[in-house]
Amino acid sequence: MDEKRGSFTGKIGFVLAAAGSAVGLGNIWRFPYLAAKYGGGIFLLVYLVLAVTFGFALMCGEIALGRKTGLSAIGAFRKLDRRFTFVGYLASAVPMIILPYYAVIGGWVTKYLAIFCLGEGTAAASDTYFTHFISKPVEPLFWFLLFIGATALIVLFGVEKGVEKVSKVMMPVLVVLTVIIAVYVALMPGALEGIVYYIKPDFSKFSAVTVLAAMGQLFYSMSLAMGIMITYGSYMKKDVNLESSVKQIEIFDTGIAFLAGLMIIPAVFVFSGGDETALGQGRSLMFVTLPKVFESMKGGAAVGALFFLLVLFAALTSSISLMETIVSILKDKLSWSRKKTCLIVLVGVALLGLPSSLGFGALNGVKIFGLPFLDFFDFISNSVLMPVVAFLTCIFIGYIIKPESLIAEVEGVAPFKRKKLFCAVTRYIAPVCIVLILISSVLDVLGVFQI
Ligand code: PHE
Repeated sequence: MDEKRGSFTGKIGFVLAAAGSAVGLGNIWRFPYLAAKYGGGIFLLVYLVLAVTFGFALMCGEIALGRKTGLSAIGAFRKLDRRFTFVGYLASAVPMIILPYYAVIGGWVTKYLAIFCLGEGTAAASDTYFTHFISKPVEPLFWFLLFIGATALIVLFGVEKGVEKVSKVMMPVLVVLTVIIAVYVALMPGALEGIVYYIKPDFSKFSAVTVLAAMGQLFYSMSLAMGIMITYGSYMKKDVNLESSVKQIEIFDTGIAFLAGLMIIPAVFVFSGGDETALGQGRSLMFVTLPKVFESMKGGAAVGALFFLLVLFAALTSSISLMETIVSILKDKLSWSRKKTCLIVLVGVALLGLPSSLGFGALNGVKIFGLPFLDFFDFISNSVLMPVVAFLTCIFIGYIIKPESLIAEVEGVAPFKRKKLFCAVTRYIAPVCIVLILISSVLDVLGVFQI
């Protein structure tokens, strides 16, 4: 990098910055719909187990890689072993795939904020409103461009710090509001069944696909397997306790995802009587369910507006972190100016996001492997590329540079309490499990055998 590498001030600064990247649509929009779709409690359980094993080890590993080398993904891998430079490139491709469709969903959130501000939230409470909206030819495109334009402006003018300051206030408010909505929903008739579905694991619903979905979600939500935590690590001061920072980020990120599920899943039961098709509606779940909750609430219009404003902030801090990553990779590689890079990335993301935005309307008939564009990009990044990057990162840590070299990095200020877990996961558990899960879910998708 051409400019001097800044550092986060202390542990709080680091944890908040990393949490700003981690907490986003993944927690509030994606986690609840996956949990609803993949069996509720069993998904939650698998997710939690993966978070304290895979998630913990990978996040420690990535941050330590960044701090040890002082470099971002490509440079970090290259510095430690040139043969693994390609893993840095693969990891860098992930944000480039995610950002365009992330901004499409960010646009949907902006639209919902606008309708709640205009007092039209009641219309959004109808079952067909969301599908009708995303299948319009031009309107979703407008909101998508607005969202990505705002992200680009923030990155271009380097005002992320301002946004981060605001979001430090917004995030606790988001947590409190989510708790209030969850409690409100819990008191509605029929909610208990939903709470039980969400919390109590039903082992008959366990399958390799559940594990793959939970694993992809874990990487996505914690911004892992895409080089981002390596970059964050490169900015972390040596005297900050790495292990306990990771623990705090994980608790924060998982806590918000859990609360979002607690707010949305019981509401699905309240409004649809536990109808299986409602549980499986995927990407529309939040947009269809929450307006119904707000509609039933006194002052729901204001609560809805506040809620979507807070979600918008969470989405913005994540999209800023995605765009920053892409800009800094290209800027370093091609020695372009920051301004030029921002503009080119903006145009590139706008073009790449087009099919995802139009995929439910004008391009409705076009599918890739049977999936609309947005779902396809989501699948390729979360269920294919990120597990592959995670696998290669574990091999790299476990066998090439050896866990000991990173343990020394983690142990700068305090002993690494879970170093046995770190070694076991990076050397054996993660590589074996990721390969097994990938193979069996591919076979499952192909219908070779039913798990
Ligand atoms: N972790 C973010 C979320 O949960 C998504 C994201 C991924 C953000 C990668 C930045 C980088 O929404």
